[in-house]
Amino acid sequence: MLVSAKEMLEKAKAGKYAVGQFNINNLEWTKSILLTAEELKSPVILGVSEGAGKYMCGYKTIVGMVNGMLEELKITVPVALHLDHGSYDGCLKCVEAGFSSIMFDGSHYPIEENIAKTKELIAIAESKGMSLEAEVGSIGGEEDGVVGKGECADPNECKMIADLGVSMLAAGIGNIHGKYPENWEGLSFETLEAISKLTGDMPLVLHGGTGIPEDMIKKAISLGVAKINVNTECQLSFAAATREYIEAGKDLSGKGFDPRKLLAPGAEAIKATVKEKMELFGSVGKAN
Ligand code: 13P
Repeated sequence: MLVSAKEMLEKAKAGKYAVGQFNINNLEWTKSILLTAEELKSPVILGVSEGAGKYMCGYKTIVGMVNGMLEELKITVPVALHLDHGSYDGCLKCVEAGFSSIMFDGSHYPIEENIAKTKELIAIAESKGMSLEAEVGSIGGEEDGVVGKGECADPNECKMIADLGVSMLAAGIGNIHGKYPENWEGLSFETLEAISKLTGDMPLVLHGGTGIPEDMIKKAISLGVAKINVNTECQLSFAAATREYIEAGKDLSGKGFDPRKLLAPGAEAIKATVKEKMELFGSVGKAN
Protein backbone atom coordinates (compact mmCIF):
# COMPACT_ATOMS: atom_id res chain seq x y z
CA MET A 1 0.00 0.00 0.00
CA LEU A 2 1.21 3.49 -0.81
CA VAL A 3 2.07 5.64 2.20
CA SER A 4 2.39 9.36 2.83
CA ALA A 5 5.99 10.62 2.79
CA LYS A 6 5.57 12.42 6.11
CA GLU A 7 6.60 9.68 8.50
CA MET A 8 9.52 8.38 6.43
CA LEU A 9 10.93 11.91 6.12
CA GLU A 10 10.53 12.76 9.79
CA LYS A 11 12.45 9.58 10.59
CA ALA A 12 15.10 10.49 8.02
CA LYS A 13 15.51 13.99 9.42
CA ALA A 14 15.86 12.65 12.97
CA GLY A 15 18.24 9.90 11.84
CA LYS A 16 20.36 12.22 9.67
CA TYR A 17 19.89 10.45 6.35
CA ALA A 18 17.84 11.25 3.26
CA VAL A 19 15.18 9.36 1.33
CA GLY A 20 15.60 9.43 -2.44
CA GLN A 21 12.86 10.61 -4.75
CA PHE A 22 13.41 8.92 -8.08
CA ASN A 23 11.31 10.17 -10.96
CA ILE A 24 9.53 7.56 -13.06
CA ASN A 25 8.89 7.58 -16.79
CA ASN A 26 7.47 4.18 -17.57
CA LEU A 27 7.03 0.62 -16.33
CA GLU A 28 10.73 -0.28 -16.51
CA TRP A 29 11.71 2.74 -14.43
CA THR A 30 9.12 2.01 -11.78
CA LYS A 31 9.97 -1.69 -11.56
CA SER A 32 13.73 -1.03 -11.31
CA ILE A 33 13.30 1.53 -8.53
CA LEU A 34 10.86 -0.57 -6.51
CA LEU A 35 12.97 -3.74 -6.76
CA THR A 36 16.09 -1.87 -5.68
CA ALA A 37 14.33 -0.26 -2.72
CA GLU A 38 13.04 -3.68 -1.63
CA GLU A 39 16.45 -5.33 -2.05
CA LEU A 40 18.13 -2.63 0.02
CA LYS A 41 15.27 -2.34 2.54
CA SER A 42 15.08 1.38 1.87
CA PRO A 43 12.04 3.65 1.93
CA VAL A 44 11.52 5.33 -1.44
CA ILE A 45 9.53 8.08 -3.12
CA LEU A 46 8.43 7.72 -6.73
CA GLY A 47 8.29 11.16 -8.34
CA VAL A 48 5.97 11.98 -11.24
CA SER A 49 6.26 15.29 -13.07
CA GLU A 50 3.19 16.64 -14.84
CA GLY A 51 4.89 15.92 -18.19
CA ALA A 52 5.65 12.33 -17.20
CA GLY A 53 2.07 12.05 -15.96
CA LYS A 54 0.77 12.92 -19.41
CA TYR A 55 3.29 10.60 -21.06
CA MET A 56 2.15 7.66 -18.93
CA CYS A 57 -1.50 8.23 -19.88
CA GLY A 58 -2.56 10.18 -16.80
CA TYR A 59 -2.37 9.89 -13.03
CA LYS A 60 -4.97 7.15 -12.73
CA THR A 61 -2.96 4.89 -15.03
CA ILE A 62 0.11 5.50 -12.87
CA VAL A 63 -1.71 4.76 -9.61
CA GLY A 64 -3.01 1.51 -11.13
CA MET A 65 0.45 0.50 -12.34
CA VAL A 66 2.22 1.31 -9.07
CA ASN A 67 -0.39 -0.33 -6.84
CA GLY A 68 -0.30 -3.40 -9.06
CA MET A 69 3.47 -3.61 -8.77
CA LEU A 70 3.47 -3.19 -4.99
CA GLU A 71 1.27 -6.26 -4.79
CA GLU A 72 2.73 -8.40 -7.57
CA LEU A 73 6.37 -7.69 -6.67
CA LYS A 74 5.57 -8.13 -2.96
CA ILE A 75 7.07 -4.79 -2.00
CA THR A 76 7.21 -4.39 1.79
CA VAL A 77 9.24 -1.15 2.14
CA PRO A 78 7.43 2.20 2.51
CA VAL A 79 6.66 3.69 -0.92
CA ALA A 80 5.16 7.13 -1.54
CA LEU A 81 3.81 8.17 -4.94
CA HIS A 82 4.47 11.88 -5.23
CA LEU A 83 3.57 14.57 -7.75
CA ASP A 84 6.73 16.54 -8.62
CA HIS A 85 6.47 20.31 -9.21
CA GLY A 86 2.70 20.24 -9.36
CA SER A 87 0.42 23.08 -10.37
CA TYR A 88 -2.65 23.75 -8.22
CA ASP A 89 -4.88 21.79 -10.65
CA GLY A 90 -2.32 19.02 -11.02
CA CYS A 91 -2.34 18.58 -7.23
CA LEU A 92 -6.13 18.26 -7.19
CA LYS A 93 -5.99 15.65 -9.96
CA CYS A 94 -3.42 13.58 -8.07
CA VAL A 95 -5.46 13.73 -4.86
CA GLU A 96 -8.39 12.36 -6.79
CA ALA A 97 -6.35 9.72 -8.62
CA GLY A 98 -4.96 8.17 -5.42
CA PHE A 99 -1.40 9.53 -5.11
CA SER A 100 -0.10 9.50 -1.54
CA SER A 101 1.89 12.74 -1.71
CA ILE A 102 1.92 15.98 -3.70
CA MET A 103 4.28 18.84 -4.32
CA PHE A 104 2.74 22.23 -4.95
CA ASP A 105 5.31 24.41 -6.66
CA GLY A 106 4.13 27.95 -6.03
CA SER A 107 7.66 29.34 -6.16
CA HIS A 108 6.89 31.45 -9.24
CA TYR A 109 3.99 33.23 -7.47
CA PRO A 110 4.48 36.22 -5.17
CA ILE A 111 4.97 34.85 -1.64
CA GLU A 112 1.46 35.85 -0.47
CA GLU A 113 -0.12 33.87 -3.29
CA ASN A 114 2.22 30.93 -2.74
CA ILE A 115 1.13 30.94 0.93
CA ALA A 116 -2.60 31.16 0.15
CA LYS A 117 -2.56 28.33 -2.40
CA THR A 118 -0.25 26.13 -0.31
CA LYS A 119 -2.59 26.57 2.66
CA GLU A 120 -5.63 25.44 0.69
CA LEU A 121 -3.83 22.38 -0.61
CA ILE A 122 -2.49 21.43 2.86
CA ALA A 123 -6.08 21.22 4.13
CA ILE A 124 -7.06 18.96 1.24
CA ALA A 125 -3.96 16.76 1.53
CA GLU A 126 -4.37 16.42 5.31
CA SER A 127 -7.97 15.33 4.99
CA LYS A 128 -6.75 12.44 2.80
CA GLY A 129 -3.74 11.53 4.93
CA MET A 130 -1.37 12.69 2.20
CA SER A 131 1.90 14.58 2.55
CA LEU A 132 2.57 17.90 0.84
CA GLU A 133 5.81 19.49 -0.30
CA ALA A 134 6.01 23.24 -0.88
CA GLU A 135 8.73 25.24 -2.61
CA VAL A 136 10.37 28.57 -1.93
CA GLY A 137 12.99 30.06 -4.25
CA SER A 138 12.86 28.61 -7.71
CA ILE A 139 15.23 25.82 -8.73
CA GLY A 140 17.04 26.65 -11.95
CA GLY A 141 17.70 24.38 -14.86
CA GLU A 142 17.84 24.19 -18.60
CA GLU A 143 15.04 25.83 -20.47
CA ASP A 144 15.27 26.39 -24.20
CA GLY A 145 18.98 25.66 -24.12
CA VAL A 146 19.74 28.26 -21.46
CA VAL A 147 20.84 27.01 -18.05
CA GLY A 148 19.23 29.23 -15.38
CA LYS A 149 21.18 29.88 -12.22
CA GLY A 150 19.73 28.29 -9.08
CA GLU A 151 18.12 30.93 -6.92
CA CYS A 152 18.63 31.06 -3.16
CA ALA A 153 15.46 31.08 -1.08
CA ASP A 154 14.79 33.73 1.55
CA PRO A 155 15.02 31.89 4.91
CA ASN A 156 12.23 34.02 6.40
CA GLU A 157 9.90 33.09 3.56
CA CYS A 158 10.85 29.45 4.16
CA LYS A 159 9.81 29.79 7.78
CA MET A 160 6.47 31.33 6.77
CA ILE A 161 5.70 28.40 4.46
CA ALA A 162 7.02 25.79 6.91
CA ASP A 163 4.75 27.19 9.63
CA LEU A 164 1.69 26.53 7.47
CA GLY A 165 2.15 22.85 8.29
CA VAL A 166 3.68 21.45 5.11
CA SER A 167 5.23 17.98 5.46
CA MET A 168 8.48 18.90 3.68
CA LEU A 169 9.99 22.01 2.20
CA ALA A 170 12.02 22.47 -0.98
CA ALA A 171 14.22 25.53 -0.83
CA GLY A 172 16.49 26.78 -3.58
CA ILE A 173 20.13 26.81 -2.41
CA GLY A 174 21.85 27.24 -5.75
CA ASN A 175 20.78 23.78 -6.97
CA ILE A 176 19.46 23.23 -10.49
CA HIS A 177 17.77 20.47 -12.44
CA GLY A 178 19.75 18.54 -15.04
CA LYS A 179 23.52 18.57 -15.48
CA TYR A 180 25.45 21.29 -13.64
CA PRO A 181 27.37 23.73 -15.84
CA GLU A 182 31.17 23.93 -15.62
CA ASN A 183 31.03 27.27 -13.82
CA TRP A 184 28.49 26.19 -11.17
CA GLU A 185 29.26 27.82 -7.83
CA GLY A 186 28.08 24.89 -5.71
CA LEU A 187 25.38 24.71 -3.05
CA SER A 188 24.96 27.64 -0.70
CA PHE A 189 25.40 26.01 2.70
CA GLU A 190 25.07 29.39 4.32
CA THR A 191 21.49 29.62 3.00
CA LEU A 192 20.77 26.01 3.95
CA GLU A 193 22.03 26.55 7.48
CA ALA A 194 19.92 29.68 7.92
CA ILE A 195 16.81 27.87 6.63
CA SER A 196 17.49 24.87 8.86
CA LYS A 197 17.85 27.04 11.96
CA LEU A 198 14.53 28.78 11.31
CA THR A 199 12.52 25.73 10.28
CA GLY A 200 13.68 23.33 13.04
CA ASP A 201 12.44 19.77 12.51
CA MET A 202 11.04 20.40 9.03
CA PRO A 203 12.45 17.86 6.53
CA LEU A 204 14.15 19.89 3.77
CA VAL A 205 14.20 18.78 0.14
CA LEU A 206 17.13 19.04 -2.23
CA HIS A 207 16.09 19.06 -5.88
CA GLY A 208 18.49 18.57 -8.76
CA GLY A 209 20.30 15.63 -7.14
CA THR A 210 22.05 14.69 -10.41
CA GLY A 211 25.70 15.67 -10.47
CA ILE A 212 26.02 17.14 -6.97
CA PRO A 213 29.39 15.95 -5.58
CA GLU A 214 29.21 13.38 -2.77
CA ASP A 215 30.74 15.62 -0.13
CA MET A 216 28.13 18.31 -0.81
CA ILE A 217 25.33 15.73 -0.57
CA LYS A 218 26.65 14.56 2.80
CA LYS A 219 27.00 18.09 4.10
CA ALA A 220 23.48 18.96 2.94
CA ILE A 221 22.11 15.94 4.82
CA SER A 222 24.02 16.96 7.95
CA LEU A 223 22.33 20.38 7.69
CA GLY A 224 18.77 19.05 7.55
CA VAL A 225 18.10 17.76 4.02
CA ALA A 226 15.94 14.62 4.35
CA LYS A 227 14.74 14.13 0.75
CA ILE A 228 16.85 14.27 -2.39
CA ASN A 229 15.37 14.24 -5.88
CA VAL A 230 17.09 12.39 -8.70
CA ASN A 231 15.82 12.26 -12.25
CA THR A 232 18.39 13.04 -14.95
CA GLU A 233 20.98 10.58 -13.62
CA CYS A 234 18.68 7.58 -14.15
CA GLN A 235 17.90 8.87 -17.64
CA LEU A 236 21.60 9.15 -18.46
CA SER A 237 22.44 5.68 -17.21
CA PHE A 238 19.45 4.16 -19.03
CA ALA A 239 20.46 5.89 -22.27
CA ALA A 240 24.14 4.90 -21.99
CA ALA A 241 23.34 1.22 -21.41
CA THR A 242 20.81 1.18 -24.25
CA ARG A 243 23.31 2.86 -26.58
CA GLU A 244 25.93 0.25 -25.73
CA TYR A 245 23.49 -2.59 -26.50
CA ILE A 246 22.54 -1.11 -29.87
CA GLU A 247 26.08 -0.12 -30.81
CA ALA A 248 27.23 -3.66 -30.07
CA GLY A 249 24.60 -4.77 -32.62
CA LYS A 250 22.83 -6.94 -30.04
CA ASP A 251 19.41 -5.97 -31.33
CA LEU A 252 20.39 -7.57 -34.63
CA SER A 253 21.36 -10.94 -33.23
CA GLY A 254 18.77 -13.59 -32.43
CA LYS A 255 15.73 -12.11 -30.75
CA GLY A 256 17.69 -9.12 -29.45
CA PHE A 257 15.05 -6.81 -30.85
CA ASP A 258 12.51 -8.09 -28.29
CA PRO A 259 11.76 -5.10 -26.04
CA ARG A 260 12.15 -7.31 -23.00
CA LYS A 261 15.77 -7.87 -24.08
CA LEU A 262 16.42 -4.47 -25.61
CA LEU A 263 15.30 -2.52 -22.54
CA ALA A 264 16.93 -4.89 -20.01
CA PRO A 265 20.41 -3.29 -19.88
CA GLY A 266 18.85 0.16 -19.35
CA ALA A 267 16.62 -1.19 -16.59
CA GLU A 268 19.64 -2.79 -14.88
CA ALA A 269 21.56 0.48 -15.20
CA ILE A 270 18.75 2.34 -13.42
CA LYS A 271 18.95 -0.20 -10.58
CA ALA A 272 22.69 0.44 -10.22
CA THR A 273 22.18 4.22 -10.13
CA VAL A 274 19.38 3.98 -7.55
CA LYS A 275 21.49 1.65 -5.39
CA GLU A 276 24.44 4.03 -5.50
CA LYS A 277 22.22 6.95 -4.45
CA MET A 278 20.50 5.05 -1.64
CA GLU A 279 23.90 4.08 -0.25
CA LEU A 280 25.12 7.67 -0.49
CA PHE A 281 21.95 9.09 1.07
CA GLY A 282 22.14 6.59 3.95
CA SER A 283 18.63 5.18 3.51
CA VAL A 284 19.70 1.52 3.14
CA GLY A 285 18.16 -0.67 5.84
CA LYS A 286 15.91 2.14 7.11
CA ALA A 287 12.64 0.67 5.88
CA ASN A 288 11.43 -0.43 9.29
P1 13P B 1 17.73 16.09 -11.61
O1 13P B 1 17.04 15.76 -12.90
O2 13P B 1 18.75 17.15 -11.76
O3 13P B 1 18.24 14.88 -10.93
O4 13P B 1 16.61 16.74 -10.67
C1 13P B 1 15.48 16.00 -10.29
C2 13P B 1 14.50 16.82 -9.55
O5 13P B 1 14.84 17.70 -8.78
C3 13P B 1 13.07 16.53 -9.75
O6 13P B 1 12.26 17.43 -9.08
